[in-house]
Amino acid sequence: MNWKIIHIDETDSTNRWLRERLKQTADSCQPVAVWADYQTAGRGCGTNTWESERGKNLTFSLLIYPTEVPANRQFAISEWVSVALCETLEHYIYNKVEIKWPNDIYVEGKKIAGILIENTLQGDHIKESIIGIGLNVNQQEFLSDAPNPVSLCQILGHEVDREEVLQHFLRQKTMFSDVENNFFHYRKRLFLRWKKATYQDKDGRFKATLKDVEPDGRLLLLDEEGRERRYAFKEVQFIIDNSLTNVKV
Ligand code: BTN
Repeated sequence: MNWKIIHIDETDSTNRWLRERLKQTADSCQPVAVWADYQTAGRGCGTNTWESERGKNLTFSLLIYPTEVPANRQFAISEWVSVALCETLEHYIYNKVEIKWPNDIYVEGKKIAGILIENTLQGDHIKESIIGIGLNVNQQEFLSDAPNPVSLCQILGHEVDREEVLQHFLRQKTMFSDVENNFFHYRKRLFLRWKKATYQDKDGRFKATLKDVEPDGRLLLLDEEGRERRYAFKEVQFIIDNSLTNVKV
């Protein structure tokens, strides 16, 4: 992709920054990547905030126009970004890099990156997509109560050039080049796939085995009674305990 790359010192949220820019340059279809040294109001999924020390990590957002993606396959964007992030990280570390459904990137049970995708639909297709990515690069101490964060620096024992990591990510293949392949690799990298773990839905906690993710993005679990349970985003939560975490920092 022919990215226009913009580097800013500080903003509230790079996702919001791009949304504002979109209002002003609505006629351009060039993909844009904006990265900020600091976000004063970085947003996580739901009502969460995103912790990132000034100048230490990559907090960036992408604006793309995947107009050929049908609305019922919008999960293809998560698949592409998640797989591309995993492949980028594997350029730096030898540890196992996995995807915790729907789009957290985990290294041996610890969260190294989170993704916040905001799509605008037009009819039954996507008009534009803003993809926010928080990737922990050089931060050594995490102060928020976010569960089990980890950074590249903590794993490697030395700092890494943030811009180089970003450039590496932006050089990964585009989502349009191989949608089926992305779906396959997304599922192959699923954290806890075929393992029994604890989950929580609106009715409480239960144990189940993660069987698969479906093309519409729903999580498919197999409970202890052998029943299949399907969940859309936010309908179920993983209960992560320390036995699932291998990285020592
Ligand atoms: C999550 O795991 O909760 C998603 C985190 C997404 C954080 C990134 S940082 C860059 C972009 N701007 C934001 O305000 N959030 C996303």
